[in-house]
Amino acid sequence: MINNKKLSLEPYKGTRDFYPEDQFVQNYIFSVWRKVAESFGYLEYGASILEETDLYRAKTGEEIVNEQTYSFTDRGGRDVTIRPEMTPTIARMVAQKRKELVFPLRWYSIPNLFRYERPQRGRLREHWQLNVDLFGADSAEADAEIINVAHSIMKAFGASGESFEIRVNNRRLTDHLLKEHLKLDKDEAHKASKLIDRMHKMKDTEFTAAMTSLIAGKTKMLMDILYVKSLDELGKKIPDSQGAKELDELMLKLEALGIKNTVYDPALMRGFDYYTGNVFEIYDTSPANNRALFGGGRYDDLVGIFGVEKVPGVGFGMGDVTMRDFLETHGLLPTPQPTVEAFVGHLEGYIGEASKLAAELRGQGVNTAVDFTDRKVSAQVKAADKQNIPFVVVVGEEEIKSGQFKVKDLKNSKEQTVSRAGITNFIKKLK
Ligand code: HAM
Repeated sequence: MINNKKLSLEPYKGTRDFYPEDQFVQNYIFSVWRKVAESFGYLEYGASILEETDLYRAKTGEEIVNEQTYSFTDRGGRDVTIRPEMTPTIARMVAQKRKELVFPLRWYSIPNLFRYERPQRGRLREHWQLNVDLFGADSAEADAEIINVAHSIMKAFGASGESFEIRVNNRRLTDHLLKEHLKLDKDEAHKASKLIDRMHKMKDTEFTAAMTSLIAGKTKMLMDILYVKSLDELGKKIPDSQGAKELDELMLKLEALGIKNTVYDPALMRGFDYYTGNVFEIYDTSPANNRALFGGGRYDDLVGIFGVEKVPGVGFGMGDVTMRDFLETHGLLPTPQPTVEAFVGHLEGYIGEASKLAAELRGQGVNTAVDFTDRKVSAQVKAADKQNIPFVVVVGEEEIKSGQFKVKDLKNSKEQTVSRAGITNFIKKLK
């Protein structure tokens, strides 16, 4: 009891407990992420959850730093933030060792991140995020590879091409559109881009009204662009945009890789200030979960903020919460399987022998738990069954004398008597 208040049984707001079935799913998601990232030649890295707050002030964007970070002053007077994202950290790490590292550099990580957000479907205060980033290459091939990794992950989870789409846009193109085409000043352009970022979450009338109060008479011209359906159509309205060329090239490369579920979305902004070129976001197409799953883009100036020469970067962040929702929506979640393979029970007076047998089985590579209660054998078997443990062996006088053991296969309700040395083989064969 603290201050006479009953202690809560709930985890801290916006965070999750991972009971074994949840941890199983989480591990499954991580294992697919790792496997695909490593298959493309990416190496895993890690870092502390704490960073100096200045790191995020530099580029992450005002909304995240002012409203969404967990920040505090440590006992030494330093401003510290629990990481809300991984990109500034990897940029810092690359900047620090840029002279020794070999480029193009391919790295991935699965950090837990903290953002003080209003918890809702797909948004929590703590999530895990696969980060896949490539440094030292600024070609369309590099952008296409990053999207290819993302696409391959979706495929590895069993997603069909129709279940998700890849929306793409380009920061240089948006910049050109707002500053050259609409002739907005820097401040207006920044505010307009933040508003466009929220466009899909607002009613049309609400969006138009907010935009009109910002850029008045130029709203119609902007809406004209925001509703184009393809890059070709856009090219007729805004020729000579370097960003549009980059996007065009990216689309061609993706098509050559067999990735066809891409869509040009002029309203796609991506919240962070550091993106400089192509940006993308993967959307679930199911009406039951029609939302952004994850995203990323090119950021060529981030390493340079550390006062060193620029190193171009491109990458994405894929969250475990949205991934799990996607898998659930499309019936792709795996069924939790226990990692325990065998359970050794015992008759009265045979706990020691049961432990000995369990140790032998473990030595032969079978994950084995042993019962050391003095409940009846039937209750021991029931407990094993409740935990979905597939095999049970009971040790008693008869077994020790004869060297023959009854192995119960609980999944198939079968039982077989095998020699002590044959138990492992029997289990492995039926598994
Ligand atoms: P982001 O769009 O902020 O990008 O996050 C990427 C993904 O992480 C989101 O699409 C979502 O799946 C997940 N995510 C973000 N915030 C939350 C939250 N509060 N709760 C649950 N899931 C969340 C970035 O963080 C960039 N740093 C990604 C990147 C890496 N860009 C280049 N390299």
